[in-house]
Amino acid sequence: MIYTPDEDSYLLEKYVKKYSKNKSFLDMGSGSGIQAKAAISAGASSVLASDINKEAVENLKSQGINAIHSNLFKNIKSKFDIIAFNPPYLPEDKQEDKESALVTTGGKKGDEIILKFLKQAKAHLNKNGTILLILSSLTPKNKIIPLLNKLSMSYKILENKKIFFESLEIWEIQ
Ligand SMILES: C[S@@+](CC[C@H](N)C(=O)[O-])C[C@H]1O[C@@H](n2cnc3c(N)ncnc32)[C@H](O)[C@@H]1O
Repeated sequence: MIYTPDEDSYLLEKYVKKYSKNKSFLDMGSGSGIQAKAAISAGASSVLASDINKEAVENLKSQGINAIHSNLFKNIKSKFDIIAFNPPYLPEDKQEDKESALVTTGGKKGDEIILKFLKQAKAHLNKNGTILLILSSLTPKNKIIPLLNKLSMSYKILENKKIFFESLEIWEIQ
């Protein structure tokens, strides 16, 4: 199953368009490729899309997008100016089927994939590089903020958007 762009995707896309001109860009968890396409049309200097879902990667390649199959940064060697990630950020819902959970569920509490991502991401950022990350009001922050402090990274919430049962946040992390 390839994630169909939704409110979270459009919120991230808005900032990808603003930030990626002349920048090297990584679209982590690319899915349909919405962020990679936004970076290409905004004039990014290079764009790599990556996903753990092989179907998504094949689909991206068939559209001519430079794409790689990878669990977070496992198969990624380079560094980037901008890394955008709209991660699976919801707490586990036992009713949800496995395939759909892979795109929405960030582990038992919702923060596990984000924590792993942040631990690996710093080594893949160029000097003055930026991470654009989507979080939800439903994602626990009690480990994310101390981790950013430990990594000496700062964060700023660029926008907070209410949708019917949660609010979406876009974080700029440097
Ligand atoms: C919420 S979707 C976002 C898709 C797209 N970027 C967007 O904004 O619409 C999350 C994406 O992350 C991918 N993903 C989940 N776990 C991952 C991991 N460990 N490494 C890489 N991608 C992962 C999923 O396959 C899915 O495509």
